[in-house]
Amino acid sequence: MDHQEHFNRNDKAWGSIAEKYESVLENTTIQSSVTLYSLTNAKDAERICEVAVGPGQASRMFVSSIMKKGASYFASDIADGMNERFTKGFQDSDLASNPKVGYEWVETEEEVDVAGQAGKELRGVDRKVFHLKANNEKLPYASEVFDCYLASLSLNLVNNHKNQISESYRVLQKGGVAGFTVLGRQEKCNYITIIPEVIESLGHILSAPKDRPHPTYLADRKKIEKDFKEAGFSSVKSYYTNKLNFERCVRPFQIYGCCTCDRGILWRP
Ligand SMILES: C[S@@+](CC[C@H](N)C(=O)[O-])C[C@H]1O[C@@H](n2cnc3c(N)ncnc32)[C@H](O)[C@@H]1O
Repeated sequence: MDHQEHFNRNDKAWGSIAEKYESVLENTTIQSSVTLYSLTNAKDAERICEVAVGPGQASRMFVSSIMKKGASYFASDIADGMNERFTKGFQDSDLASNPKVGYEWVETEEEVDVAGQAGKELRGVDRKVFHLKANNEKLPYASEVFDCYLASLSLNLVNNHKNQISESYRVLQKGGVAGFTVLGRQEKCNYITIIPEVIESLGHILSAPKDRPHPTYLADRKKIEKDFKEAGFSSVKSYYTNKLNFERCVRPFQIYGCCTCDRGILWRP
């Protein structure tokens, strides 16, 4: 599959399940995002880039209670359906009526002027959120403009994960920090077998197509650490964390049992 084909496929496939993802799955992935916010010390970052934000539950939590005053948060996703949920979720939340929080949709026809947007004088606003459509593998930002990069549960979905890693490195300033989560060891991750089957039986597409590697192919810590080092990251750490809250997420589908999943996290101090 070529680059554009993969882009279109993910845009459509993820967009089509955005509503279900938001109502059923998102509550279970928030643990990963919160872990990343904490491990990357995102609370101290001035300019944060978070990719593949989905419907934005974690983003809203980040903006309302973690992000520091004066910071700018650039949130992106490839799927129109996800971006629509993000906008709606933001507008329906208390953040929309908070005069200190600014939200802006940014068209990405051309390169986004991160410094210009972040430096904009918005009267009374002390936390700025910029939201855009973007492919993790080719971000519409200049190099070295962020001090924090976050990607929860998307590195295993892109066409070539090395492109996403090198983009994360490129947009980070020297000394910047990146945090990623991916699905972990297959034997601990029955989520990736049971749930997609059920979701597909309900008429949605979620599982990786047959021409893609298995969703847990990045769980090999040695291999992935090597990929990060090759991209230029000076210090790479990864580890497995404990299970996600999948017991809850399977209930609507009438499947019971313990679903576990572990993830690795990497960063660049
Ligand atoms: C498993 S969800 C994770 C969403 C959110 N980070 C969370 O933890 O709930 C994966 C997200 O990645 C997005 N995505 C898939 N491929 C992408 C790509 N190439 N570039 C940007 N986003 C992508 C999907 O649209 C979807 O919102």
